[in-house]
Amino acid sequence: MKTLIKNGTILTAYNEFKGDILIEDEKIVTVAEHIIEKVDNMIDATGKYVFPGGVDQHTHFSALCNVGDKDTAGYETTDAVIVGGTTTIIDYAPQDPGTGLLDSIDYRINVRAKNKTCVDFSLHAMVTEVMDSIFDEIKNFSKKGISSIKIFMAYNGSPLHVDDGAFFRILEKSKEVGVTVFVHAENGEILDFLRNECVKKGQTTPHYHHVSRPPFTEAEAVRRAIYIAGQTGTPLYIAHMTCREALAALQQAKGTNQKVFGETCTHYLTTTKEVLDNPDFNEAAKFVCSPALREKEDCEALWKALREGLLNAVVSDHCGIDVRELKQAGKNDFTQIPNGSPGAADRLHMIWTNGVMQGKISKQKFVEICATQPAKINGIYPRKGHIDVGSDADLVLFDPEYRGVIRLGDNPNGVDYNVYEGRKQIGRVDTVLLRGKVVVEKAKFVGKYGQGKFVSAKTYASCYQE
Ligand code: URP
Ligand code: ZN
Repeated sequence: MKTLIKNGTILTAYNEFKGDILIEDEKIVTVAEHIIEKVDNMIDATGKYVFPGGVDQHTHFSALCNVGDKDTAGYETTDAVIVGGTTTIIDYAPQDPGTGLLDSIDYRINVRAKNKTCVDFSLHAMVTEVMDSIFDEIKNFSKKGISSIKIFMAYNGSPLHVDDGAFFRILEKSKEVGVTVFVHAENGEILDFLRNECVKKGQTTPHYHHVSRPPFTEAEAVRRAIYIAGQTGTPLYIAHMTCREALAALQQAKGTNQKVFGETCTHYLTTTKEVLDNPDFNEAAKFVCSPALREKEDCEALWKALREGLLNAVVSDHCGIDVRELKQAGKNDFTQIPNGSPGAADRLHMIWTNGVMQGKISKQKFVEICATQPAKINGIYPRKGHIDVGSDADLVLFDPEYRGVIRLGDNPNGVDYNVYEGRKQIGRVDTVLLRGKVVVEKAKFVGKYGQGKFVSAKTYASCYQE
């Protein structure tokens, strides 16, 4: 099967040019100014940008997150994600209770995601139960196509929390075999104290979520994580960075040539903590995520960090937690609100509208932070995240002339709200190809549930090479 995309403006992380893309079956076979070829399917991309499908390296589908044992946002809800232009996710694979890291990964690939997922996916191992056996499992990651592991310094008292001793052992084992360590850096003990103090004083509304999670609790954990990783010499990747204090720690460590890297999320770039002050509990609870939302100056610092290459990816940290159901657990006590918001479907639209169209980042930077770098960091580049001969034909045709507003109804995400509801949208993902097949047409899903495949990742990915 041959497909030809004609007359588009091709955007990559490196350049922009008018050209055609020839696809044979699942792969790109030619990229050139004018391709003349007899094909089965011709797609006219006149007036459209053509860029690589987005790669979201931080999502929580079919996840326990920190909401007890309820399975949230099954993989069938990734139809909305591909409509939003993201063709690959690197999803977190928490250990199933009583189960090792790799068995949990197998179960996720063979059961949880099977026949459901609409996007291609790789997985990060994610520690939720420290058993002696998990440290030895790391050496077998490469055989399973896993290149990374995530640990949480926060959420003390929940299965997610990993103490510094276990963190250190994970860093040591990961370095031996080229596995990238991702860390959720917040000081869990101080957060516990601050949160309990609020509750004791009767300060129980979502407003106190940000009051009790001040920037220094993030910055301290970032500094500690960097220091510990520096002792083992393991590259470190800091998840969802939010504030100036934490960025300063990253900058300082980079200045000493330590291999440290960071990502931020769409919401930390585009939304500030005042949304948590809304007297309507539901409206405020939608934005309860960790770390907490910050100030406008932090958003600006994050954009600058992306521009200058201090941060190298924007992710969604997608958690599909219904507000009218699960988030109600915290109606009378904000500490009980499950953390996380759904944003995977709108990441590209929000970053284009609020980043590229506001002159905060270039179009090349947009592709770099939304697709190319996440593919490199996770060992799936250049198969994913790039337009070149031999890459998977995961392509977005983007209409820059579209003007609208983000509405849940236009692209239902399987959750009872869209965290960006009512936000301005400039430009729209019009058509998406996943491995050569058109799966989104005129901004509607036309693919099949189960079309997404597991993508095997290579260890010693870019954090080891830079
Ligand atoms: O609030 C968040 N981010 N919830 C999901 C778990 C995590 O911390 O990544
Ligand atoms: Zn997360």
